[in-house]
Amino acid sequence: MSLMKREEWYDLTRATNWTPKYVKEDELLPEEMSGGRNIPLSTWDSYDEPYKVTYSEYVGTQREKDAGIYSVKAALSRSKFMDNVDPGWEAIMILHYGGIALGEYAASIAETRMARFSKAPGNRNMATYGMLDENRHGQHQLYFPHTYTNKNRQWDWAWKSYHTNQWAAVATKNFLDDIMMTRDAVATSIMLTFSFETGFTNMQFLGLAADAAETGDHTFASLISSIQTDESRHAQQGGPTLKILIANGKKEEAQQMVDISIWKAWRLFSVLTGPIMDYYTPLEHRKQSFKEFMEEWIISQFERQLLDIGLDLPWYWDEFINDIADKHHGMHMGSWFWRPTLFWNPTGSVGIEERKWLEEKYPGWNATYGKCWDVIIDNINNDKEHLTLPETLPVVCNFGFLPLIQTPNKTRDKNKLIDYQLEYEGRLYHFNSEVDKWAFQTDPNRYKYTMTLVDEFLAGMVQPPDLNGALAYMGLTPGEIGSDAHNYAWAKEYK
Ligand SMILES: [Fe+2]
Ligand SMILES: [Fe+2]
Repeated sequence: MSLMKREEWYDLTRATNWTPKYVKEDELLPEEMSGGRNIPLSTWDSYDEPYKVTYSEYVGTQREKDAGIYSVKAALSRSKFMDNVDPGWEAIMILHYGGIALGEYAASIAETRMARFSKAPGNRNMATYGMLDENRHGQHQLYFPHTYTNKNRQWDWAWKSYHTNQWAAVATKNFLDDIMMTRDAVATSIMLTFSFETGFTNMQFLGLAADAAETGDHTFASLISSIQTDESRHAQQGGPTLKILIANGKKEEAQQMVDISIWKAWRLFSVLTGPIMDYYTPLEHRKQSFKEFMEEWIISQFERQLLDIGLDLPWYWDEFINDIADKHHGMHMGSWFWRPTLFWNPTGSVGIEERKWLEEKYPGWNATYGKCWDVIIDNINNDKEHLTLPETLPVVCNFGFLPLIQTPNKTRDKNKLIDYQLEYEGRLYHFNSEVDKWAFQTDPNRYKYTMTLVDEFLAGMVQPPDLNGALAYMGLTPGEIGSDAHNYAWAKEYK
């Protein structure tokens, strides 16, 4: 049997489209799902995905990738790596899987929406692979942590976290719901694949793979590299969509989608990736500070991509650049202080050497965050651990679902927290910045019903209304509740 050459049939199959005769166009591709924005169907034919692959090539590659990671896992299964590793790395792994595994599964639904409803045939084709990608590495990221569930119940949060009201899981779900579960195909391709995957997760995965290799966790390094090759392919779906929107007079709308999703992704990064890089990773394995990583990979690379595609930098870019040197220190201190509400064991990790490193990477750290840690260290060393534990809940942002944070000792009013407020339809909303407030105001109907943990607490949903009630509400049981990963060894250095 003679076979046609790939180049003879590929373009026809990847861009197959048809004119519906039995139903109207908007019955086949309803606006709520497709998001064509009055751009003619024929214009969407020009969507040109930069990454071309056929189904048989795709399946062959994925099979090889699976064989690779499972053989590494099997070969290293007797190494007992996780029994001897620094507890900071174990916390990173538990946090990674709990934060991501089910989000990957959910992402396959977002991909499926593009696969079915995108008006661009090339996008439907790419999204079919994207759907399979997310399903594949969603399963891996449930299977790999399962190995360790007999070691510690926190590992089970890979499966559990999204089914709870734990605050970090809620913030993550809220973000993913906003950018990928409740948007049309066009917005999904921009907010999920362009902003979040190209801008953030792709780089995060590259960084994590390097850190894993450095720490000696070769099983995880091979897993995450394998996932990254999926992500870097399907993350390319948003670029061609943006080009079509810009060429058809929809730049302003495209820009707004990018601006909102970058900001919300950044907020999540500041609480998850920031503490991981600058605190949880053992000092000897730190290659780059979080700020250096953000500057190199996100600011400079992503900045160029935005401008190349014909967009502007988000209007808040200066604030964003200031934030990357600062916000995550507050997020780290806050999440460490509220450690019983975490499903991983954070490490304070501000021992004498770590502190030198922090001051070198972030000049002024000692005079701001360091001063607060001094109080905590004193309390730990004077048997007043109870003063380092929470009794209340923080004020939470109604847009990003994360606590309001401010640099200590820096503002005119010293430690007075700035709460950016908005009264809308009789309800008072709280925001962490002008940007969060602006994002809410771009679409109040989308955001006005959201309830943060504090809103739920005030509505009487947390019973009894104290920390124990809050822990039960968040699904945290004994054996899962977070405590300092190093049992305060870093604080005792100052004794
Ligand atoms: Fe993924
Ligand atoms: Fe993805």
